[in-house]
Amino acid sequence: MFNLKEEIDILESKGLKRSLFFLGSAQSEEIVIKGKQCLNLCSNNYLGLANDPRLKEAAIKAINEYGLGTASSRLVCGNTALYKALEEKIALFKGAEAALVFNSGYTANVGIIQSLVDEKDIVFSDKFNHASIIDGILLSRAEFRRYPHKDLDALEDMLRQSRNYRRQLIITDTIFSMDGDIAPLPGIVELAKKYNAGVMIDEAHATGVFGNNGAGIAEYFNLKNEIFIQMGTLSKAVGSFGAYVCADKGTIDYLINKARSLIYTTSLPPAILAASLKAIEIIQEEPERRKMLFENVDFFKKGLKKSGFDTMDFQSPIIPIMIGKADLAVSFSKRLFDEGIFCQAIRPPTVPQNSSRLRITVMATHKKEQLKFALDKIKKIAMELGAI
Ligand SMILES: Cc1ncc(COP(=O)(O)O)c(C=O)c1O
Repeated sequence: MFNLKEEIDILESKGLKRSLFFLGSAQSEEIVIKGKQCLNLCSNNYLGLANDPRLKEAAIKAINEYGLGTASSRLVCGNTALYKALEEKIALFKGAEAALVFNSGYTANVGIIQSLVDEKDIVFSDKFNHASIIDGILLSRAEFRRYPHKDLDALEDMLRQSRNYRRQLIITDTIFSMDGDIAPLPGIVELAKKYNAGVMIDEAHATGVFGNNGAGIAEYFNLKNEIFIQMGTLSKAVGSFGAYVCADKGTIDYLINKARSLIYTTSLPPAILAASLKAIEIIQEEPERRKMLFENVDFFKKGLKKSGFDTMDFQSPIIPIMIGKADLAVSFSKRLFDEGIFCQAIRPPTVPQNSSRLRITVMATHKKEQLKFALDKIKKIAMELGAI
């Protein structure tokens, strides 16, 4: 009945089988994978904070004060005082009335969406939105419309034809996780106003990276006050773990009462909350990290362009090299590993068919020599495999 082996064999024959690698070091510019020291070109640790001594020190201090686990959900007895400090900090950082911390970006999206909409409502979602958004919509049972990537005309057509629902919600990643491009947020906000829809954004890859203070794309476009729900993660540039949602006080209160992924789960360990708090302080106080990051992005993109790769004009630390076929992307990744570079191939269903790619990410703390080394190896292997 459960012929799972056959399904795995099919995945393998298509170059789509996934397996787990073990990380044998801290998450940093260089990591140890399968016992081998490699240059890391695929983490979301954009600012290099995941192994920052100040975050570790804050976490240890919290362990000494509060212990390790909380053994309870937030609504029972696991709501350590660190949550209050962190949520106040995030609300100020994002320029919002209130904030609420969830256990992860995945559970935040699922919990928020499922709380806000149901069968009486309709959700419009960019085709390239993250899987956690899709799962939240499916779980909510709201009517689900996916609009072509960043296509505002298509979104408007859909909005025009869907006026008979109780609630209309538009959801978009602000920086798309596998392409690194930016959502047309001003246009989305305008359409939302015209059709009386709410806007929810996922700032997972923008938090800490974009905007003068690192608050994300809502800050970058100066649209903080126009957006109903700002969600983001603490697990990427922030270097810690967990996620946040920012909204008005009433909405946050509603989520505390309705979001099942917040209510029915044990709260985050105090060490994680303390590390997130310290990281946001650093993000606000050290804008030079963002400057270094974008200098590295610029350097890397120019290098790729010089080697004949097609890269987008928009500057983002997520730099995809499109390969197409899944098995070719896997061979590319394996050859990079032979040469001392770790960069996973990204394949369907994470990305559409025939758009397998290397999703390269650049960090603020990469040295120019490391990036130069990677550029040389990428060019060499691409020529070997006929991928440029
Ligand atoms: C756009 C986006 N949203 C949500 C998530 C989920 O976040 P987390 O890894 O904290 O669960 C991710 C990351 O995987 C993401 O890229």
